[in-house]
Amino acid sequence: MKTIEFFKEGIKNLKTIGTLTPSSKFVCKEMVSFIDFSTATVIVELGAGDGVITKHILKGMRPDAKLLVFEVNEAFCELLYNIKDDRLIVVPDSAEKIGEYLEKNKLKNTVDYIISAIPFVSLPDDLSYRIVETSRDHLAEGGLYVQLHYSLLVRKMYKRIFGNVDVNFVPINIPPAFVLVSEKR
Ligand SMILES: C[S@@+](CC[C@H](N)C(=O)[O-])C[C@H]1O[C@@H](n2cnc3c(N)ncnc32)[C@H](O)[C@@H]1O
Repeated sequence: MKTIEFFKEGIKNLKTIGTLTPSSKFVCKEMVSFIDFSTATVIVELGAGDGVITKHILKGMRPDAKLLVFEVNEAFCELLYNIKDDRLIVVPDSAEKIGEYLEKNKLKNTVDYIISAIPFVSLPDDLSYRIVETSRDHLAEGGLYVQLHYSLLVRKMYKRIFGNVDVNFVPINIPPAFVLVSEKR
């Protein structure tokens, strides 16, 4: 998607999209740098937008791995459907339904990595907690939850739910970004 089209979509739905520009390649690379692609067989992405991070994940994935991607914005879903890759499953629904769609797609119930760019800062607290708690519940022991943010306002949510959170800073992005990483222990 062209930057201007993403910008227009962002203006229309600022609360759910949370930004006016797609992630830079520096952010995309940082997000996927936490994935051990040699072992990952099920990866879930939340808030895929126009698929900019999705493509980086697919690039590293094993041929037998699956990527389940959640996105609520219709225009973005159309773009995600255009990514032709048998390993990709696009779910045009809210991320809180991870369990339902893992089951529907006959994927194992424990996920190796969850990569999220959902803007929890602008979403209701109860919805944010539901999504992150269900993410933790469906991660395998030792699995990582990787979250993109533009501030550290909701950092405590990850500490509460996972008991741990590491913060990484990516300056080359509009706006500069934080990548928060929590491990299921
Ligand atoms: C900051 S954008 C990130 C887009 C892209 N991943 C990137 O990094 O450029 C956040 C995305 O989360 C999506 N989103 C918001 N709430 C969601 C929910 N409950 N379930 C799934 N996606 C959601 C928005 O529609 C938006 O596309």
